[in-house]
Amino acid sequence: MLEVKKIKRLFKSGDLQVAAVNGVSFSVPDGQFASIVGRSGSGKSTLLSLLGALDKPTSGSIKVDGEDITQLNDHSLIRYRCQKIGFVFQSYNLVPNLTAAENVMLPMEFAGVGAKERQERAVTLLQQVGLTENEIGRKPGRLSGGQQQRVAIARALANKPKLILADEPTGNLDSQTGKMIFDLLHGLAKSEKTTIIVVTHDLEIAGKTDRAFQLKDGKLQEKK
Ligand SMILES: Nc1ncnc2c1ncn2[C@@H]1O[C@H](COP(=O)(O)OP(=O)(O)OP(=O)(O)O)[C@@H](O)[C@H]1O
Ligand SMILES: [Mg+2]
Repeated sequence: MLEVKKIKRLFKSGDLQVAAVNGVSFSVPDGQFASIVGRSGSGKSTLLSLLGALDKPTSGSIKVDGEDITQLNDHSLIRYRCQKIGFVFQSYNLVPNLTAAENVMLPMEFAGVGAKERQERAVTLLQQVGLTENEIGRKPGRLSGGQQQRVAIARALANKPKLILADEPTGNLDSQTGKMIFDLLHGLAKSEKTTIIVVTHDLEIAGKTDRAFQLKDGKLQEKK
């Protein structure tokens, strides 16, 4: 269960203050798939970073299974990000000198998963997102944008996170591949009770999730 109460994230730039997230409250139970749409600059990436504990809100609380992640110390934060969260970045953030498989194995290494299991799981995940055996052995610079995006999705799933936060995970994919990724995430929500929050510009995807939210100037509204 994710419970967000009155979070704000203010950025100072010179004399100006930008309220990127401006008093957002919502909750999502385990196993629900939610989407967030909103115009460029409406605060979507900022909100996801707060939920993933990559950034701290200026005020407000974010509870995951009853624990307020805005209050965690550095050690607990690392554990939270590594074990509970699967984050798909808008800009992928793959490690350029590691192959696709090694990128997916990296978070498992941090979590202490054995070498053989890491390798097997990485290959399985990369096959699930539709990469070929040859592509799995390539470094990001030799993969297309959509293939890199799918490696980033496989990496986010590596440690079987409770909460998947994905920033436009299908932004670079054709509609058929996008649907495959949507089905994969939807399947995880239902079979593993994973909570999934995707930021998307794809209204077709947004229309098919269990919940649909819209961000406008840092404020969140539930649609439908
Ligand atoms: N580190 C920062 N310092 C100052 N302002 C910031 C910072 N990060 C984001 N902002 C501002 O906060 C607002 C929300 O940014 P955010 O990246 O969350 O938007 P977004 O909805 O993800 O947009 P996009 O669809 O373009 O990715 C924008 O006005 C942006 O300029
Ligand atoms: Mg963004």
